[in-house]
Amino acid sequence: MNIYRANIIYTPSPDAFRILPGGYVCVREDGIIAGVYEQLPEQYRTAEVTDYGDRLLIPAFNDMHLHAPQYRNLGLAMDLELLPWLNTYTFPEESKFKDTAYAERIYHRFVHELWMQGTMRSCVFATVHPEATRMLADFFVQAGLGAKVGIVGMNRNCPDTLRNTAEEVVRDTRALKQYLDVHGNNGLVGTIVTPRFIPSCTEDMSAALGRLAEELQLPVQSHLSENRSEIDWVQSLEPDTACYGEAYYKYGLFGQRPTLMAHCCYTDGEELRLMKRQGVYVVHCPTSNSNIASGMAPVRMFLQHGIPVVLGSDISGGHYVSMLRIIQYAVQTSKLIYAQTQGKMPFLSLSEAFYLATKAGGGFFGKVGSFEEGYEFDALLVDDSYLNYDNYTLEQRIQRYIYIGDDRDIRVRFCRGKELTEPPMD
Ligand code: GUN
Ligand code: FE
Repeated sequence: MNIYRANIIYTPSPDAFRILPGGYVCVREDGIIAGVYEQLPEQYRTAEVTDYGDRLLIPAFNDMHLHAPQYRNLGLAMDLELLPWLNTYTFPEESKFKDTAYAERIYHRFVHELWMQGTMRSCVFATVHPEATRMLADFFVQAGLGAKVGIVGMNRNCPDTLRNTAEEVVRDTRALKQYLDVHGNNGLVGTIVTPRFIPSCTEDMSAALGRLAEELQLPVQSHLSENRSEIDWVQSLEPDTACYGEAYYKYGLFGQRPTLMAHCCYTDGEELRLMKRQGVYVVHCPTSNSNIASGMAPVRMFLQHGIPVVLGSDISGGHYVSMLRIIQYAVQTSKLIYAQTQGKMPFLSLSEAFYLATKAGGGFFGKVGSFEEGYEFDALLVDDSYLNYDNYTLEQRIQRYIYIGDDRDIRVRFCRGKELTEPPMD
């Protein structure tokens, strides 16, 4: 048993932070939490305790949508909307990942950055290239981080340098799964079925990926209703569907398996009903939605309907890897909607947004993202002494850390109970 003492802060439910000043978390050798306590129980009185003093211990972050091969474009190219942005900046960059030496250089830095920012689990789009994608998965394993890594399926409306066939994406996803079943660090790193979005995938490819998800019992990730031009395009490509979501549904890619759909800025009506019925997750990506001028996803409305919502950085549509910034943008975006609706749509509280980035996202990986008995111990030790120069309460300290803290304040990172050392950058 490993016992840690610190100021423990987490969100077992969205409505408030649970705060244990000088509390204890007991973690079994297999990385599972045995209990969280205000006072150390009698049975552990003689056990050794790692005392982190006045520091904060919080759940680590889960980034539920991002593009590893767009890492080099971070902070660049925000002058276009989605469709021209993809063609002008994104597809040319992703095409470079055929070259494994290039992929190695960028993917090492990418995984290092996730470690640095305290993102212990993520759902990642790679590219169509199987060698580079397997390398990315290996880097996650070597770093001790959790991830679901997807080989992207795309066979239309894309350059020849960034295209695979239905047969290839099925074969390569199957091979990646077989590889990670053996080498994926006891399930910490796995794969996920990843059609890029409807405009990138012919009917054959979408149907093949739907069948594959069912056969291999894999989850699914894609993009949905991000931008108005994209939605109009999908309508013309799939004229017999009532909404964009139904196009995925038709192919077994909309909740038949656990499914993450990024964006959903314009989801309503039939699509909303289908998402709710199918238990499809919305991945809210507020920085990306603002950068490429997509819109504002109606997160409060999704929550009111009981639709699961999680958060994503969507780099490089999004310009920050840090989930602290994504939490902050999620709150700020919800306040713009609040103002626009004359208060009819209540904005997100900070604890709600923190919950989305920890326990809600963690649910996609099992029992992850909270400090409760039976949960995997994914945690960050935060030294906020630089911010905490006056008599702030712990409630105020977590607020300040989320809004104005960053990775420099993170002292120790745990994923599934294991303290992670810094992975290589080059
Ligand atoms: N839709 C299809 N591909 C992409 C992508 O790479 N980024 C974003 N933001 N939306 C997409
Ligand atoms: Fe995306």
